[in-house]
Amino acid sequence: MDTRVTVAILAAGLGTRMKSRKAKVLHQAGGKTLIEHTVETALELAPPERVFVVVGHQSDEVQRTVAGHGVGLIHQREQKGTGHALMIGRNSLAQLGGLLVVYYGDCPLIPASVLQAMVESQKKTHAAATIVTADLDDPTGYGRVIRDAAGHVRTVVEQRDGTPEQLAIREANVGIYCFRADVFWKHVDELQPNNPAREYYLTDMVEVLIRAGHTIDAFRAQNPSQLLGINNRIELAAADRAFRERKVRELMLAGVTVRKPETVTVDDTVLVGIDTVIEPFAQVLGRTVIGEGCHIGACAIVRDSQLADDVEVGPFTSIGSSRVGAGAQVGPYARLRMDNDVAPGVHIGNFVELKKTRIGSGSKAMHLAYLGDSAIGEDVNIGAGTITCNFDGRKKHQTTIGSHSFVGSNATLVAPVEIGEGSYLAAGSVITDPVPSDALALGRARQVIKEGWARKRRDNSHRP
Ligand code: UD1
Ligand code: MG
Repeated sequence: MDTRVTVAILAAGLGTRMKSRKAKVLHQAGGKTLIEHTVETALELAPPERVFVVVGHQSDEVQRTVAGHGVGLIHQREQKGTGHALMIGRNSLAQLGGLLVVYYGDCPLIPASVLQAMVESQKKTHAAATIVTADLDDPTGYGRVIRDAAGHVRTVVEQRDGTPEQLAIREANVGIYCFRADVFWKHVDELQPNNPAREYYLTDMVEVLIRAGHTIDAFRAQNPSQLLGINNRIELAAADRAFRERKVRELMLAGVTVRKPETVTVDDTVLVGIDTVIEPFAQVLGRTVIGEGCHIGACAIVRDSQLADDVEVGPFTSIGSSRVGAGAQVGPYARLRMDNDVAPGVHIGNFVELKKTRIGSGSKAMHLAYLGDSAIGEDVNIGAGTITCNFDGRKKHQTTIGSHSFVGSNATLVAPVEIGEGSYLAAGSVITDPVPSDALALGRARQVIKEGWARKRRDNSHRP
């Protein structure tokens, strides 16, 4: 018997209870959209050509979000129910045969291991379908699993259609199914929208298949909290917390110190070396790679960046798509805005912003500076208040500062401009012309002294 798995993820609905303009599956938890999580889980069970997402609301955006994964899409223009979502997928799905696994796009925490266990159970029992159920303390909102006296599953009754006795049952349909594809496609058209919602319920397949003489098996899940769908922003926050907890636990077990881990946000995609310390409220996001022995200060945000070993990131520092060399110190209160290359041993201090800037090893910019579109050599000292004027109102221009130069405090470098190696720029200078190597450049008005001026003014003001 063909037991190859095809996965269909239902994600056409808007998700009214989110109270959002955005389709529910486009909301994020753990740094990714819900649909990305559920697609990535599916890809642990089946190759991309056997994974399909049923899209409807904001299908273009959902399509863009999962495009990189190479999975198929099924367009459900009108949402007439979870059964209907599959009926319209017949052309793509039926020919694939094997086993059809179905779950919902709003369940980002489902572990692939539960899906695999359900599939294994289905292979053993040869039932027409296996549905995952769970005993919930509060099953409100879920379909209830009705069994006969012998304990066999007979039907699933939706919350809105159940009698009080049925609704007292705590065994819920969590919304994860494995069907024998041949049997499913033979009978799917027998679904009828004869319920108050006038929807084609996928859950009615249980009754349809039993009527056709098949058996349905239930796979009771042990840890239901991972399987539950997200319907509102409280559940979204809980899922986000679960992802964050999982990641920081992984990091701590792998040799990273995380202080007050419940406050720290690290995306799943991030790699961190041993003996790095992450302080409270830090966020390490996207495709960031952090070396060994680094220190990420409280409230720092590091996104899509590479930090070599022993980098010190001070509190309240923001680093975006930049590279920082070994032993460099950045912050507190520094901003590496984008596309910066900070060489080993560099010191970037408080209220210094870098944008598209390369700064060579041993250089220092310790206080209050803006360095944009710049190439700065080695062992350069950038004084407090230095500004590269990289924008002329229309275009951005480059500033080059040679190695071993000294830029005095409050220097203004009007780009494009080139400073040779080993030169000095006097404090307070406005530098508009190239400075040759080993020169001193002064670009400021000469100081004037008026002897006794202040005393005279004081004396005059005492006269009646
Ligand atoms: C469904 C189940 C219920 C189960 C619960 C678990 C049915 C009839 N009921 O109810 O037994 O306990 O999930 O969470 O299946 N969708 C489409 N097209 C549609 C309708 C829905 O793609 O026409 C998608 C939605 O985007 C959503 C998923 O299917 O991701 C589930 O739909 P939803 O309306 O949330 O079903 P529930 O009422 O939660
Ligand atoms: Mg739901």
